Amino acid sequence: MINIDYSINGETKLLGVIGNPIEHSISPVLHNTISRYFGLNLTYVPLKVEASALEYAIKGLRALNFLGFNVTVPYKTDVIKFLDDTSKEAIMMGAVNTIKNIDGRLFGYNTDAEGFSRSFKDESGSGFAGKTVVMIGAGGAARAMAVRIALEGAKKIYIMNRTVSSAENIAGIINNNIGQVAECLGMDDKKAAELFYRGDIIVNTTSVGMHPDVTSSPVGSGFVFRPGQVVFDAVYNPPVTRFLRGAAENGCKTVNGLGMLFYQGIFAYEIWTGLKLKDELVKEVYSEFVKIL
Ligand code: ATR
Repeated sequence: MINIDYSINGETKLLGVIGNPIEHSISPVLHNTISRYFGLNLTYVPLKVEASALEYAIKGLRALNFLGFNVTVPYKTDVIKFLDDTSKEAIMMGAVNTIKNIDGRLFGYNTDAEGFSRSFKDESGSGFAGKTVVMIGAGGAARAMAVRIALEGAKKIYIMNRTVSSAENIAGIINNNIGQVAECLGMDDKKAAELFYRGDIIVNTTSVGMHPDVTSSPVGSGFVFRPGQVVFDAVYNPPVTRFLRGAAENGCKTVNGLGMLFYQGIFAYEIWTGLKLKDELVKEVYSEFVKIL
């Protein structure tokens, strides 16, 4: 017996994610689950794009009238030059992960940083305003997170990185565009461990400690957590990294990167559909989402 499948039909609107690799992306599952739940005729597909084809891919998505799409590694920066308009925040972050197609014009947003902020507040119960924040790492993720932390009114942001020049770059963007709150230093700087201990909030933005490298930590043994600090790790696999375990053992509140991943998707979905998803529903989806990762 054959069942007629109406789930994709002539009225279906398309969403997707471009990146390379894309096979491990969980975004199609998240977005299609939400669309099915709401009964919205939207389908989200993974789209593997080679670097040399990025411009054609963007033009193609516009030509094929995609409602919107996500952009993931390694194209979050390169994609900006192919868009019609990009939010001021995303330009400062140097990265776009969400694009909406409005009548053939492509608008870029960054929901990674918004997802980070939402999940941090939800899980720790506190925000960044008036706080001293220590950030480890100075790559693409760090830039978006640091800009967001500065925009939310942190008192001081110390950006520590193995390569000081990348940290200088991010500190310069913040100090020139938002306020004189950022300072950078190398991980081996004499002051680094002391500032780390004194910070209110510690944020690991590097992938050090991610599966399968689970015994590594982004900081050396000279770095000690102070009880009461809130410690965030952008890594979510494993859910408790060596870094977070150390923090918890020292009486710190800990938050991993799972909520950030989840909420960037929720915010993107809200941008595309114009819907505001109810908190209860979002929490319900989140509790299921945690189980599949
Ligand atoms: P993403 O876009 O995920 O932030 P990225 O731009 O490649 O990725 O940045 C990775 C960050 O992790 C950088 O700050 C990098 O330090 P360097 O700028 O010195 O390269 C940091 N990082 C990666 N592996 C590291 C390691 N083994 N030890 C210390 N820092 C590391």
